[in-house]
Amino acid sequence: KKNIQIAIDGPAAAGKSTIAKLAAEDLGYTYIDTGAMYRAITYKVLKRHIDLENEEALTQLLFETTIELKPSSDGQLVILDDEDVSDEIRSNIVTSSVSIVASHAGLREEMVNRQLIMAKSGGVVMDGRDIGTHVLVDAELKVFMSASVDERAKRRQLDNERRGIDSHVDQLKKEIVERDKMDTERHASPLVQAKDAIYLDTTNLTIQEAAKYIIQLAKERM
Ligand code: C5P
Repeated sequence: KKNIQIAIDGPAAAGKSTIAKLAAEDLGYTYIDTGAMYRAITYKVLKRHIDLENEEALTQLLFETTIELKPSSDGQLVILDDEDVSDEIRSNIVTSSVSIVASHAGLREEMVNRQLIMAKSGGVVMDGRDIGTHVLVDAELKVFMSASVDERAKRRQLDNERRGIDSHVDQLKKEIVERDKMDTERHASPLVQAKDAIYLDTTNLTIQEAAKYIIQLAKERM
């Protein structure tokens, strides 16, 4: 049995991270949430009041920044320059700004370099928007995960409730559609299904069912 790479991409709030985390746990693999990395640098950019459109300044800032993903009992900790920002990066202001930050090619290049280093050792489940198309292009298993916008907004609402973030389904729906549009229409590695990815609609699946399906696909490829 060999260790494989699993790439999971798809639009916002499709259940990627929850399902990827479960699958990684079951397989004993490392889980890497690349969205958290883009969120972390966005948090720092906002705190420093740097113009979100200033590609050069943002890319320079990333070079001076360390972002660590640490597994913990309740998911994953995101450490930005030694500060735990796991909750802060889920705030509304970060969520509504992250797609602008993530649109810059220079910044993405450095993120991808870091992601490749993180994926080097052993089995890995990585989720994001460009993993199958630009990061783990040779991944043994690529999944493009989606769900209806209604379902995704409902899930995000539940998620937010658990995190103590105030939100309304209609507002979330708008926000999700807007973010998908930006991620899909940007020039630098836009959100698109890789040719060799398996499409998975999770609208009518439980988290456990979706994870089980991915684990089965993974085992067939080991
Ligand atoms: O996955 P999550 O919703 O946390 O990602 C936040 C944002 O980060 C996305 O909307 C997208 O703009 C950006 N992102 C990206 N490429 C990735 C992961 C996330 O551009 N691989």
